[in-house]
Amino acid sequence: MLPDNEAAPAEPVTVSLMVNGSRKTLTLDTRVTLLDALREKLQMTGSKKGCDHGQCGACTVLADGRRINSCLHLAVMCEGTEVTTIEGLAKGEELHPMQAAFLKHDGFQCGYCTPGQICSAVGLVREGHAHTDEEIREQMSGNICRCGAYNNILDAIKEVQTA
Ligand code: FES
Ligand code: FES
Repeated sequence: MLPDNEAAPAEPVTVSLMVNGSRKTLTLDTRVTLLDALREKLQMTGSKKGCDHGQCGACTVLADGRRINSCLHLAVMCEGTEVTTIEGLAKGEELHPMQAAFLKHDGFQCGYCTPGQICSAVGLVREGHAHTDEEIREQMSGNICRCGAYNNILDAIKEVQTA
C-alpha cells in the first residue's frame, strides 16, 4: 500500500501518433512527453533534449506545421496532430532546402542544437513574418546555440527565405 502522500502510478494509455507521415501506436504513461516518446519509444533521436524545460529549443519539432518544444507537450496531447521531426524533412536522399542551406553556410559546429534550429527555421519561414535580420534573430531566439553559430544560421535562413 502506498503512503497517503504518494500518488498511484498512472495507468498506461494507448496513443496513436502521426509522425513523419507514419501512424505510430504507443502504449505509454500519460506523463510521457512527446520528446521522450520520440526518442525512447520510437528511436527517433534527432530531436535533442537540452534543458527539458522549454528554454533551449533543442527539442523543437513541427506540429501541424507549427514549431513547438516537444519537451513541453505530453505525447497524449498530440493524438490527431501531424508531427514532423528532423528525420521527416528530407525526401529520401534529397535534403530539405533548409538542411542544405545549413550545410552550405556552416550553420552548426557541434550540431547538438541543429535539428531544433532547422525545424524552427522551417516553421519560421512558413509563418512568413520574419523579413529582416532582426526579425529572424528575434523569431529564432528560442533556439539557443552554445557554439554561437548564430551568424551562419541567419545566413542559411535568409537563403531559404528568399529562394
Ligand atoms: S529540451 Fe525542450 S526546450 Fe530545451
Ligand atoms: S552547433 Fe553546438 S550548440 Fe549549436
